[in-house]
Amino acid sequence: MIEKPDWGPLATYAPNKTEPVHNWFYYKESFSKQLVMKVLNLFGAREGNLVLDPFCGVGTTMLACKEMGIDSVGFDAHPLAVFVSRVKLRDYHRGEILREMDRILESKFVKPKLLIKNKILKRGFPKHSLEEIIFYRDLIMQARDKDVRDFLLLGLMNVAMRCSYINKDGAVIKIKKRKNIPLPRKVLKNQFERMLKNLDRIKFQRSRVRADFGDARKLGLTDNVADFIITSPPYLNKREYEKIFSIEQGLFLDMVGFGSYSDYIGSDIRELEKDSAKLLNVLGDETNKLPKTANAYFMDMFQAIEEMYWVCIPGAKVAVVVGNGCFPTRVVDSDVILSKIAESVGFRAKRILVLNKRWCTKKRTKKVGIMRESLLLWEK
Ligand SMILES: C[S@@+](CC[C@H](N)C(=O)[O-])C[C@H]1O[C@@H](n2cnc3c(N)ncnc32)[C@H](O)[C@@H]1O
Repeated sequence: MIEKPDWGPLATYAPNKTEPVHNWFYYKESFSKQLVMKVLNLFGAREGNLVLDPFCGVGTTMLACKEMGIDSVGFDAHPLAVFVSRVKLRDYHRGEILREMDRILESKFVKPKLLIKNKILKRGFPKHSLEEIIFYRDLIMQARDKDVRDFLLLGLMNVAMRCSYINKDGAVIKIKKRKNIPLPRKVLKNQFERMLKNLDRIKFQRSRVRADFGDARKLGLTDNVADFIITSPPYLNKREYEKIFSIEQGLFLDMVGFGSYSDYIGSDIRELEKDSAKLLNVLGDETNKLPKTANAYFMDMFQAIEEMYWVCIPGAKVAVVVGNGCFPTRVVDSDVILSKIAESVGFRAKRILVLNKRWCTKKRTKKVGIMRESLLLWEK
């Protein structure tokens, strides 16, 4: 275990805020493009290699690989994450985007019929803003080219959140009425133009890239294909993605035919009984001392790590960013436990680089212990 605090900020989304295209969607749990690039350099990745991210979120790993001309493939169980990854990773014909932008921005506003039952949606927006958002959404849905449609939808999604009362606080959506919220029509053009400018600022090298729906525990890839894995699974006891994007999902994605989110790591506590012998083998008595949710999480991660092992070529290198779990009575050292699991499936766990340390607290006041956020380095 080695302390590496200078890489700490890179384990967060913050550096992506000023990075073109990476900043098209705020996904709190993302790591940064810079972290991916540092790991690619550390691993000596080059053209012709394939990088896998089995928990790809909004595609940071793949986008960084595309900038470096390295092939990559990513999977996520969250429809919104896959949608955002795909929009960020595509190559676009600007002419078509500009044509559709003009059509949409020059259309005369016609009040749509609001048939919305969802309470958060109704309370989350000033009525007129919601009407404008739905008006623009329906115009965007008429775009001839699907890629252009998705590009514009992502732009509108960002605008919708800025023009709402919605405040995402950790894992919960809060409605906070505020004054001076901009009207969608005032900011939409600017948003589209900013995204287009980003496309000029980002430099891609030739490479192949794919983002797909998938469950990290059964990816459906052939064995021995990945030269490297750079990834970050959900952190133990942090279930932030499930509900937090329900507005975006309901307003924009359900109609594009994106599925629902069900294969979340650690969510199926019933799994515990079925297959806990493997975990018991690795962790011994520790298994019985872990909270139930932690056991479910590690059993799912066991499967995901086995899957990583099979898809890796011999000699492949793996980097996993993960945080420890905070419970009212203890901290669970996920970094150490996942490394033990990795060794048990055949990886060599080489290092744990400790990037960040935070207090785990009970009811936000009583200190329970220190939680690490670490970068785990393994080799097949
Ligand atoms: C820490 S985030 C990854 C963020 C990513 N590194 C980025 O920069 O955007 C973990 C991701 O794992 C996804 N996830 C949860 N369960 C999954 C599963 N069974 N298979 C694949 N992805 C899953 C979540 O939806 C979430 O997007």
